[in-house]
Amino acid sequence: MADMPSGFWSGWIIALTLSSLAGVAWLVWSIYYGRDLQEESEVEPVWDEDLEEGHNPPPLWWFWMLFGALIFTLVYIMLFPGLGNYSGVLNWSQGKRVADSYEDFQANFAEARAEVLNMSLVEIQNDLDLMDTAERLFRRECSACHGPDGRGQANMFPNLHDVDWQWGASAEQIEQSIRGGRNANMIAWQAILGDEGVEQVADYVVNLRQGVDESHPGRAMFQQNCVACHGMDGTGNPALGAPNLTDNIWLYGGDMDAVRETLQQGRFGVMPAFGERLDDMQIKLLIALLVR
Ligand code: HEC
Ligand code: HEC
Repeated sequence: MADMPSGFWSGWIIALTLSSLAGVAWLVWSIYYGRDLQEESEVEPVWDEDLEEGHNPPPLWWFWMLFGALIFTLVYIMLFPGLGNYSGVLNWSQGKRVADSYEDFQANFAEARAEVLNMSLVEIQNDLDLMDTAERLFRRECSACHGPDGRGQANMFPNLHDVDWQWGASAEQIEQSIRGGRNANMIAWQAILGDEGVEQVADYVVNLRQGVDESHPGRAMFQQNCVACHGMDGTGNPALGAPNLTDNIWLYGGDMDAVRETLQQGRFGVMPAFGERLDDMQIKLLIALLVR
């Protein structure tokens, strides 16, 4: 109630609450004790010859129950917020309760947190409970994109359990992927290479893993346009997120149709940054889960 816009509304609510309580008290009282004051001369209606309205008051336990509820209400609004801006003798508030439990939580877990931050990744990996926590965290934060088991999905979100890391497999590189996110940037080549060029380079890329003849018609174009990012031999460059094109692990697909589409449209995969959303311990747990 502390955020009432003005004292008027607070006063209004206090008046309303107190007068309702007084009204209820009067009602209860009058049912049981006001009766004597009623004039006996009142004529009771009679129906069907002998059906009269009863004179019995409701049972007395009823009176005590209502009376008890009234006392309880009064005590309650003295102790807790309930009367307009009045915050109650105990000074209880929902916000304060949340803050208190947050402090409790911090105090209880600060130690565990610090402990995890001091452990090595291997130690974390050998602790089944911690790995359980890491997996739960992964399911909650990452599985919508990377799949529940982290094996990727939809030719769009990479498998995080294979040997191929676009942005690098070291703990530092994985940390950077999680903390800062990643923006892959591979422009569309249609306008530069033309239909025939795309066809030839795509064929070159598709055959790269089996070794391509020096005389392949796409080779010159690949050397000219692609090696800056994907490397002379096509094995990629983690600093740019340029994937290895010589293995059989593909994000968007390694058959002719998929590679053609990659070249025609370009690819711009986005891994969102989690540095703000997760704390250091959570990020460390996730690294332990992913790194080998
Ligand atoms: C500016 C750097 C850059 C250049 C130049 C570049 N690429 Fe890429 N390429 C990337 C990046 C980064 C990705 C990853 C895109 C993503 O993850 O969304 C990528 C992805 C790809 C993929 C998809 C791989 C997969 O796993 O599905 C193919 C195929 C590819 N590039 C081929 C080429 C070819 C062929 C050329 C030359 C015509 C080329 N790239 C030029 C940076 C580059
Ligand atoms: C909104 C979807 C989305 C969510 C959520 C997401 N990711 Fe990603 N992540 C991606 C995409 C897309 C890429 C690939 C970016 C690219 O094309 O290079 C990626 C790439 C990565 C990479 C780099 C992979 C490589 O091969 O180098 C890591 C590591 C990673 N994610 C970890 C995580 C973790 C851990 C979480 C949970 C905290 C997470 N991701 C949540 C979409 C997501």
